[in-house]
Amino acid sequence: MASTHGTHGAAEVLVASNRGPVSYVAAQDGGLDARRGGGGLVSALSVVEDKLWVCAALGDGDREAVRRGITEPGVRMLDIDADVHADAYNGIANSVLWFVHHMLYQTPFEPSFGPEFRRRWAAYETYNRAFARALAEEAADGATVVVQDYHLALVPGMLRELRADLRIGHFTHTPWAPVDYFRMLPDDIAEQLLRGMLGADRLAFLTRRWADAFTECCTRIIGGTSGTRIGVHGLGADADFLRERAHRPDVEERLGALRDQVGEGRKVVVRVDRTELSKNIVRGLRAYELLLETRPRWREKVVHVAFAYPSRQDLAVYRDYTAEVARVAESINSRFGTPGWTPVVLHVKDDFARSLAAYRLADVALVNPIRDGMNLVAKEVPVVSDRGCALVLSREAGAYEELADDALVVNPYDATGTCEALGAALDMAEDERAERTKRLAAAGTALPPGRWFLEQLEALRG
Ligand code: G6P
Repeated sequence: MASTHGTHGAAEVLVASNRGPVSYVAAQDGGLDARRGGGGLVSALSVVEDKLWVCAALGDGDREAVRRGITEPGVRMLDIDADVHADAYNGIANSVLWFVHHMLYQTPFEPSFGPEFRRRWAAYETYNRAFARALAEEAADGATVVVQDYHLALVPGMLRELRADLRIGHFTHTPWAPVDYFRMLPDDIAEQLLRGMLGADRLAFLTRRWADAFTECCTRIIGGTSGTRIGVHGLGADADFLRERAHRPDVEERLGALRDQVGEGRKVVVRVDRTELSKNIVRGLRAYELLLETRPRWREKVVHVAFAYPSRQDLAVYRDYTAEVARVAESINSRFGTPGWTPVVLHVKDDFARSLAAYRLADVALVNPIRDGMNLVAKEVPVVSDRGCALVLSREAGAYEELADDALVVNPYDATGTCEALGAALDMAEDERAERTKRLAAAGTALPPGRWFLEQLEALRG
């Protein structure tokens, strides 16, 4: 039921996302330790001090914090039933919607939209409704609400029904599937998703390509976008933050350790990803293996430093992929390694300081996703790189639209083409590499996170 005037909440700016800026873990003394996240969204939103961030309790620690009434200022964590959350987040968001937008469905991961899918879909609706209700409670009259991502695609429509006075925006951080692929979803679900999003006043995407794909879905499936405005804001890297952070003592220390691991005088190919299928890590490793096989002069002379941080490990398909990455890295090392040279150095423990150290050390950065909303690694490496770094970049990453001129562009499915690009990147003359890196850094930081968020707020209110 719509709340009546005067009983509305006090928040003027609200953000909603599945993952919030803080999480809680049980401490030894029986208390709860708060861990603040350092992701891009956290730094982007810090430009607006007075805001309320509505997010889900994700683990036992978060749920316990909600039960004990422990909160951070400006954050409201929703204690959604754990099974409902698991069905919505694992069962729909990360196994269906993520797969559709990244075009990952293929044998043996064929979609099967039977009764189990319908049951999970009902949980996805419940979970979205919990967000819509909380936002409706907290928002002041005429407040601005920005909803994030595919987890919460139904929230704009649900919130609009509860509170017609709000300005509602939705931002998509993933690609958007082409219409013929999107239509793999059952018709009623496809429609519900589009209409849910169109409940917003304004929808925004990371690139024109994803925005156009969404518009095309609306045109073909429900006959248009019903007057909802659609915009593009290409999130960039935060140059000031990265340059400062990359020279702190913890990064210097890890840089020393990495140099020791790599060995004197060797070139370094770096990749940093969450481990999941869209990142195309296995094919990247195969391309590197092909380089060692077909260009023996690189043996003993190059090391591939691959950071692959496990993600969404509740799902078997993500776990299997994580294991496959480790297997392929090991097989390359046993095939080509020598007593003094490890061809692939794989690290799986998430460590931001070590990622920055790797960016500084890199001669080549490999960013080869099958599809990616943006990919900030491609934008961050050129900013931090000490001596300039050649960028091998998939044409299917959103970042391609801004970085194509100075990257070595690859078709992510083509391991041979990727191998050739790696070879060209390793051979690139130092002055050319430095020039390209400068231009990549400028293009990749054109819209830093704070401005990215403020631009959206202005456009939404305009
Ligand atoms: C992508 C999504 C984000 C998500 C992130 C990490 O970037 O667009 O919404 O937070 O992946 O995934 P996770 O499932 O760990 O939140």
